Amino acid sequence: NIYGDRKNSLGRDYSQASDRELHAAALERVDSEKLTAGPIIGGKLRAGVNPQDVTNPYDRSRVLGHVSEASTEDVDAAVNAAANAQVAWDRLGGAGRAPVLRAMADALEADLDRLVALLSREAGKTLNDGVAEVREAADFCRYYALLAERDFGGRQTLKGPTGETNELVLHGRGVFAAISPWNFPLAIFTGQIAAALAAGNAVVAKPAEQTPLIAAEAVRLYHKAGLNPDLLALVPGRGETVGVALTNHPGIDGVAFTGGTDTANAINRGLAARPGAIIPFIAETGGLNGMFVDTTALKEQIIDDVILSAFGSAGQRCSALRVLYAPKDSADALIEGLKGALAAQVLGDPTDAKTDVGPVIDAESRANLEAHVERLSREAKIIARAELPAGADKGDLFAPVIAEIPTPDFLEREVFGPILHVYRYDPKDLETVAGKLAARGFGLTLGVHSRIDAFAREVMELVPAGNVYVNRSIIGAVVGVQPFGGEGLSGTGPKAGGPNSLIRYAAEKAISINI
Ligand code: SER
Repeated sequence: NIYGDRKNSLGRDYSQASDRELHAAALERVDSEKLTAGPIIGGKLRAGVNPQDVTNPYDRSRVLGHVSEASTEDVDAAVNAAANAQVAWDRLGGAGRAPVLRAMADALEADLDRLVALLSREAGKTLNDGVAEVREAADFCRYYALLAERDFGGRQTLKGPTGETNELVLHGRGVFAAISPWNFPLAIFTGQIAAALAAGNAVVAKPAEQTPLIAAEAVRLYHKAGLNPDLLALVPGRGETVGVALTNHPGIDGVAFTGGTDTANAINRGLAARPGAIIPFIAETGGLNGMFVDTTALKEQIIDDVILSAFGSAGQRCSALRVLYAPKDSADALIEGLKGALAAQVLGDPTDAKTDVGPVIDAESRANLEAHVERLSREAKIIARAELPAGADKGDLFAPVIAEIPTPDFLEREVFGPILHVYRYDPKDLETVAGKLAARGFGLTLGVHSRIDAFAREVMELVPAGNVYVNRSIIGAVVGVQPFGGEGLSGTGPKAGGPNSLIRYAAEKAISINI
């Protein structure tokens, strides 16, 4: 039963001194460890190539550890080891594989404080975001364990008009390449792997360049949890080198990718050009996420939900709010409220429990955001900008911005960070305004704030979205409760954390026996 007995993972409460103490001790440990990431193949760390320091986005002078990139030979060895181990793993069936995934969930929870400290140091996550991420990673493992038991057990018998026996069975496809982003370096990394493993595949995982240390820890935990090390290899490095070597490798039978739309297109083109192979591609990419408000909505609730959706996780979620559509009659009051709420946001060191908004991921990202602010100051109107705290110049802290845009099609695509765009619309023009958003081709998250059901339904009809949220924030999908993923340019599906998550990781075999 995938609905009844399952419980989502529990977290921490940093308003309690005891939980803050656990965090402080874990942070000290992570700071003293000097972690190492590199190619991990058959459970062994290899030397790799092109060694580099991994630094802290809040303070670039802080070196957390080192990473080396996987060479082409490393990628080759990883794929070959995975292919050799996969067949026996697939034959275990879902019930045979589920215990390892559950042991991984337990291992993640047992290591929660240390993982949160590392997420905070390496990816700039606030403590609450870090906890949510460890919980989500554990939830993916337990949820996919249940799906494995449900779908990869016996045979599904199908009735037919003839006297034959007809059965449908699912099995793994082989070796999956799992390519994951830096914005959920533990949850998405662990989740893609858990899905592929649950369906009977082996995995070669390439984490984002910015977050190899947490990925290496997750791989070590999988192995510690009892997974045959050959079934999961880590190949860190850049997309142009390691990513390409991996997706071009003839031993790869499927690719799961989460990241930018352009990269998804590039991978898809590469896969299409491979002679003699048709490779399934699962992509979860960006969005251009809007929230439509009408005059019946409650102002205080909108403000809370907008601030969380636009600035939570420093706006670095693919689900984050990019454009707020405010009705012209209540837009001024709403904007005033948002200004006040923005000023109250605490910016700073994400390892401090009081921080609401930590740094963005790297200098390149910060420069792109500043360039966009330049454009906004020329072509739109900056309404408010948060102030950077003193001493915030050591890393990539970026002060969040609210800007009013002059036209509903001002943005062509998402700007990945804490910048909220507000468009003042005339409710008479709802269809046109929503149509312009829809025409961009994305379809990830969509928010509505209204007490009129018909308004919410109309917005949902007008704007495509994989996840619609009414009268709440539009971030933080919960595994098994809000299956997450988009349509159109936002991804291929299947959604992560939903009842159909494993199907595309598997091959289906129909067997008809005439007795
Ligand atoms: N799954 C995340 C969320 O729902 C986004 O990547 O916010």
